[in-house]
Amino acid sequence: MNRKQKITKSVVLVSGGAGFIGSNLCEVLLNQDNKVICLDDFSTGYRENINEFLRHSNFTLIEGDIRDYETCAKAVKNVDFVLHQAALGSVPRSIKDPMTTTEVNVSGFVNMLHASQEAKVKRFVYASSSSVYGDSSDLPKLEAKIGKPLSPYAVSKLSNEIYAKNFSELYGIETIGLRYFNVYGQRQNPNGPYAALIPNFILKLYKHEQPVINGDGSYSRDFTYVDNVMQANQLAALTPRDQIVGEKQYLAEVFNIACGGSTTVNEILQRLYKECIKYDSDIESIKPIYGKVRKGDVPHSQADVMKAEKLLGFDPKYDIDIGIEKACKWYWGRLMNK
Ligand SMILES: NC(=O)c1ccc[n+]([C@@H]2O[C@H](COP(=O)([O-])OP(=O)(O)OC[C@H]3O[C@@H](n4cnc5c(N)ncnc54)[C@H](O)[C@@H]3O)[C@@H](O)[C@H]2O)c1
Repeated sequence: MNRKQKITKSVVLVSGGAGFIGSNLCEVLLNQDNKVICLDDFSTGYRENINEFLRHSNFTLIEGDIRDYETCAKAVKNVDFVLHQAALGSVPRSIKDPMTTTEVNVSGFVNMLHASQEAKVKRFVYASSSSVYGDSSDLPKLEAKIGKPLSPYAVSKLSNEIYAKNFSELYGIETIGLRYFNVYGQRQNPNGPYAALIPNFILKLYKHEQPVINGDGSYSRDFTYVDNVMQANQLAALTPRDQIVGEKQYLAEVFNIACGGSTTVNEILQRLYKECIKYDSDIESIKPIYGKVRKGDVPHSQADVMKAEKLLGFDPKYDIDIGIEKACKWYWGRLMNK
């Protein structure tokens, strides 16, 4: 099938555009001749992630909070596609502060969705999460079968999917939720208590500190390099509605976005050692520390990506070997230049 795979000559709003995934989306879209509007409040995103785009005449920054409806309405005006990434990530953060996670991830989401349908955007693509599978022990994860969510973060992402479906049925807005599985790559924040595992481990090795593994390292994840997520967002925005849902009255689908692999935490650390030793051979002597399992963490997570492959033409080209190599190279270059 001949598919359009790249968004070009469009106006695209990236909420959370100063964050990890959002800033990568801004970069790809600017390079493909789009007008990009980035809406971000810099709560977990960084100016340095978008500094180089600020000079670009096709880039507009709206500094604002998605909890404010007027801000969302202003941001989506005359926009073709919304790629909604803004949210407070992290399971532990949501357990510590469920109120703020819910305000941003649920109320903020509904603001963006409602503003988008009022502005009649062509499609609303949003970041959901593998956390919606909760306590389901089925592997690999299939979109149709979820379990009980295990954290306020997971509840917030599940509620996004329910709202999106409800709005599609009620108002006709086309929505696609992408259930990302442990995304990693350039510009992911390695610092702080809520840092994701891969950048956190790379930073520890760089500083010659011991990486801390929660549990015995046997938990496994479907680690997904960020460029696969770039492809998924564009396919989700562009794939014609009838190719996804046929004659169905409305479009409100969710897709697993991952590589379909399974790597344990111990294995990922070994891969990181192998890559990082290329830059600093002293790293070999640093041993990890094994700590307690974190509340709300699921033991194993692996996606079935058949639905996205079949209906969107998703083809995750960056496997764990290429992804880890690219990520280590990027972090090393950046840390060395600080
Ligand atoms: N990184 C992953 O592995 C992963 C996995 C599953 C789902 N997700 C989802 O993908 C999306 C992007 O995640 P990320 O890893 O890039 O996180 P990130 O924290 O780097 O980016 C989120 C961005 O949203 C912005 N933001 C937060 N609250 C806001 C508010 N109230 N108003 C405006 N902007 C706000 C932040 O400042 C930040 O720039 C999130 O929705 C996240 O839940 C990420």
